[in-house]
Amino acid sequence: MKTLLITGGAGFIGSHVIRLFVKKYPDYQILNLDTLTYAGNLENLEDVESAPNYKFIKGDITDEKFIDSFFQKWSIDGVIHLAAESHVDRSITDPMAFIRTNILGTVNLLNACKSQWLSFDDKLFYHISTDEVYGSLGDTGLFIEETAYDPKSPYSASKASSDHLVRAYYNTYKLPIVISNCSNNYGPNQFPEKLIPLSINNIKQGKEIPIYGKGENIRDWLYVEDHAHAIDEIYHKGANGQTYNIGGNNEWKNIDLIMLLCEIMDRKLGKEPGTSAKLITFVKDRAGHDLRYAIDSGKISKELNWNPSVTFETGLEKTVDWYLENNLWLEHVTSGEYSSYYDKQYNR
Ligand code: NAD
Ligand code: TYD
Repeated sequence: MKTLLITGGAGFIGSHVIRLFVKKYPDYQILNLDTLTYAGNLENLEDVESAPNYKFIKGDITDEKFIDSFFQKWSIDGVIHLAAESHVDRSITDPMAFIRTNILGTVNLLNACKSQWLSFDDKLFYHISTDEVYGSLGDTGLFIEETAYDPKSPYSASKASSDHLVRAYYNTYKLPIVISNCSNNYGPNQFPEKLIPLSINNIKQGKEIPIYGKGENIRDWLYVEDHAHAIDEIYHKGANGQTYNIGGNNEWKNIDLIMLLCEIMDRKLGKEPGTSAKLITFVKDRAGHDLRYAIDSGKISKELNWNPSVTFETGLEKTVDWYLENNLWLEHVTSGEYSSYYDKQYNR
């Protein structure tokens, strides 16, 4: 039986990866290591928590001693590393948390693999990263795997740093690694601080939808289950030392996306067309706001035969339905001390 460590499994993307792997690979022992920050919630995994091949362990990847003893206790064959601080706005107000978890935490895991794996045969450290490491695009062009790193926010700089360190361990110590850099994910279980779930939650409550600047920034959106399937393909078939870009081929200007979301919300809530759009409020722009991200996922498509399968319209409908049906989840995750960047800026 193989033992697979998934870090950050109680978070948004991690919980979808855990669900997929627990169900698809009954012969793997799957360990979910997560410290349960504001973004981690075990309610995301209620449907798999009693599966015989799944175990949750609460722990902090920044704690070097803990990570060493964890690797001594469990005989780990592979790591899929998702644990991170993940929100750009929070990285602007508290960069140090990003340096600790995203950089130091990743190095603790790399060191534990390097020292505990006596042989590297059949071992793999898979690092989950973001397209934001490539910086910001103008009106044209796409990020490819060879695009030079040019991170602009404390979040993307911390992720770029961890990507470099993962590659350095491959180059220096021959640690078997793969990295994937993915575009913006959306779907159920995303903490309502990022654009789509924050907007859904605000519309539900009749609160303003804050749009930074003029709403002209562009993101490429991928349904979270498509990302989980890409991770499955890369973990099992990706070539040692390689990087794969993952994208949805689905670019949207923020304002156009929010208008579409408002239409869906009006329909689902039985409101007059145009009701939700009245909540749109243009607010002060994010500092250093990247204009555009867009991914060329030709490599993973050609080499691993992965392509996104969920259209944006279908994915958004499914996402809205999930947030409308899961009031208790929303209440629980928003009851903590966290308030959004916008709320903080305006002392609300
Ligand atoms: P998330 O914020 O929803 O979840 C992060 C998880 O990591 C949480 O469960 C949290 O408790 C855990 N965690 C944080 N610090 C920890 C620590 N010190 N020790 C142990 N666990 C810790 O994040 P997400 O959106 O699911 O992103 C997961 C990964 O995917 C991140 O590495 C992120 O950079 C990357 N990524 C995210 C997106 C996106 O659109 N969300 C896109 C591309 C890549
Ligand atoms: P976000 O979901 O935070 O992801 P990222 O910054 O990692 O791309 O933001 C997506 C886009 O939406 C980004 O251009 C910033 C913008 N945005 C708003 O306009 N208002 C908001 O309240 C938030 C959270 C984001």
